[in-house]
Amino acid sequence: MIPKSKIDEIVNIARVEEVVGDYVTLKKRGATMIGLCPFHNEKTPSFNVSPVKGIYKCFGCGKAGNAVNFIMEVEHLNYIQSLKHLAEKYNIEWPEQQATSEEIEAEKERSNNRESLQIINNFAEHYFADILENDEEGRTVGLSYFEERGFRPETIKKFKLGFSKESWDHFATTAIKNGFNIELLKKSGLIKESEQGKIFDAYRGRVMFTIHSLSGKPIAFAGRFLKKDPKSPKYVNSPETDLYHKSNELYGLYFAKQAISKIGYVYLVEGYTDVISLHQSGIENVVASSGTSLTENQIKLIKRFSDNVCVLYDGDAAGIKASLRGIDMLLEGGLNVKVVSFPEGEDPDSYAQKLGAVEFGLYLEENKKDFILFKTSLLIEDAGNDPVKRAQLIREIVESIAKVPDAIKRSGFIKESAKILKADEQLLINETNKILRTKNTQPKNNIAEVAVEKDYREELKEILDLQLHDHQERDIVRLIIEHGNKNMEGYKNAAHYILHELHEHDIEIDHPVIAEIINEVAIQLEQNDLNIQHFVNHTNNLITTFIATIMSNQHEVSPNWEKKYDIIMDEQGANYLADIESAITRLKLKHIEKSILQNQEDFNKAITDDDVETLQKIHKHLTDERQHLTHKIGTVIIK
Ligand code: GTP
Ligand code: MN
Repeated sequence: MIPKSKIDEIVNIARVEEVVGDYVTLKKRGATMIGLCPFHNEKTPSFNVSPVKGIYKCFGCGKAGNAVNFIMEVEHLNYIQSLKHLAEKYNIEWPEQQATSEEIEAEKERSNNRESLQIINNFAEHYFADILENDEEGRTVGLSYFEERGFRPETIKKFKLGFSKESWDHFATTAIKNGFNIELLKKSGLIKESEQGKIFDAYRGRVMFTIHSLSGKPIAFAGRFLKKDPKSPKYVNSPETDLYHKSNELYGLYFAKQAISKIGYVYLVEGYTDVISLHQSGIENVVASSGTSLTENQIKLIKRFSDNVCVLYDGDAAGIKASLRGIDMLLEGGLNVKVVSFPEGEDPDSYAQKLGAVEFGLYLEENKKDFILFKTSLLIEDAGNDPVKRAQLIREIVESIAKVPDAIKRSGFIKESAKILKADEQLLINETNKILRTKNTQPKNNIAEVAVEKDYREELKEILDLQLHDHQERDIVRLIIEHGNKNMEGYKNAAHYILHELHEHDIEIDHPVIAEIINEVAIQLEQNDLNIQHFVNHTNNLITTFIATIMSNQHEVSPNWEKKYDIIMDEQGANYLADIESAITRLKLKHIEKSILQNQEDFNKAITDDDVETLQKIHKHLTDERQHLTHKIGTVIIK
């Protein structure tokens, strides 16, 4: 559990404009700031941030909330994870789970280690980029290599590409001169020590790729050798450090995450250069596995941002077959997998450079195939009519199908691949079930985590429904937020009056979130203090989102009311007494209408004459009251 005081500390320090500003370029416009919405595609900005109110709201897609909600949405984190993220941003100490003192010490050391390594990596990133840009050797060897590969200057800057000189220890001596500790430099993997105790650079005569964390910090490097030399590996990578765990990272995710969220799927490629070339072609939702097969953590990482992956293969058949198994893991992770293959000898990088941005984009769109069907067609060529090979083929396809966690999707795949294979559908069903039965006896992994993700999405849906909720109840909250602290004769304040009226007329609030807000307002009023900020920074995500939506829609009027009641709106808030009066009257009216309907239902079921008479009286009373209220609305509005 995170103490409430810690949550308060974080939400009070986190400025919504600063938090959003890390992701969206904001321009000042009056009291608010405006920019392009990170949650949907748009060309003219409709994303509003109000520093004063501490909220954001997109008038295009309707997303709204406070700083914590923003991080939840943009980073796909849950509430607590988002708070932690903000704590990190603002250097607020995060209470760790109860741990033994040794564990605390070890973590402290790791944390110090991470910090120091980060500073070294920041320095190195800058150093390599500087050599590429300004050093004679860097320019003639490194920069001209990147230029030859078609990388433009802005791309080189964006991805922080660099160069490491041919020299034995130019980096090492520069780093040491800048005060960096030799032991830490060795830990970072940037320098090495020979058996004779001589220090030398780990990367010599290589172009450098920086590997960034999810938040854009340089956490590792990869250096590409420029000559074809079978004795030297093509790439040398940073070792595992406290900062960098290869199996938890995907190259390019930092640059891709916003586009992935917007577009709804991610392209998976093999190499660094593939990622960079695709970006140059305007395709930004791309990450690389860096040549190795995918790990479970990498798949979870993908799933945080999207359920849909499209794998881009290099264009040789052997390579494709080798990666089939890796792709089964994606299926197992519950992802929808599509693939695109390229002509023999081409990879995504070379083909994007060859076709140009527009053609390449079209090629991807036109050649996307569903993975299981792609695999079926691919293997069927090999099998021909050989019955043994065909049986083997069916087994392999069924293996893949059985990996799909969703039963409905599985049966769709079975149907379609049976068609391609010209095999009996029932046979495939039986084979799939056989595999499923053996699998189900093994422990399931990560089920719980997947469930957590689902909850989060459910929650978002609820919030959207809430925003559509009927105006009468919403309006009560709006008035409390907007005018609650203003004067009202005979009452503590306007909010007190509103709550009094609801109570007096037995008006129950239907919507659970609105009811909860009203309830908390009542508690606050008992303690003599209406604190709106409490709701903006509430720990209940539904409440904060709702409040943010309402606050950014202040002075909105339902178009229906305007037509129905001929409302003439006055200057903002000037006539709040009339506003409150009419909102309460409308809510009463809605209440009465509900009672009338209920009464009519009872009437239909009435048996005795007495009953009928009573119900008729009630009906008369209710319709009189309705007429009175309708009339009152008219006068309230006109005065
Ligand atoms: P180019 O040949 O410059 O186009 O690079 P590439 O990134 O396309 O390389 P390639 O397709 O050969 O390999 C794909 C990925 O596998 C690379 O981006 C690296 O992450 C990784 N890789 C390839 N060769 C090596 C190697 O020798 N060592 C290590 N550690 N990784 C490698
Ligand atoms: Mn390549």
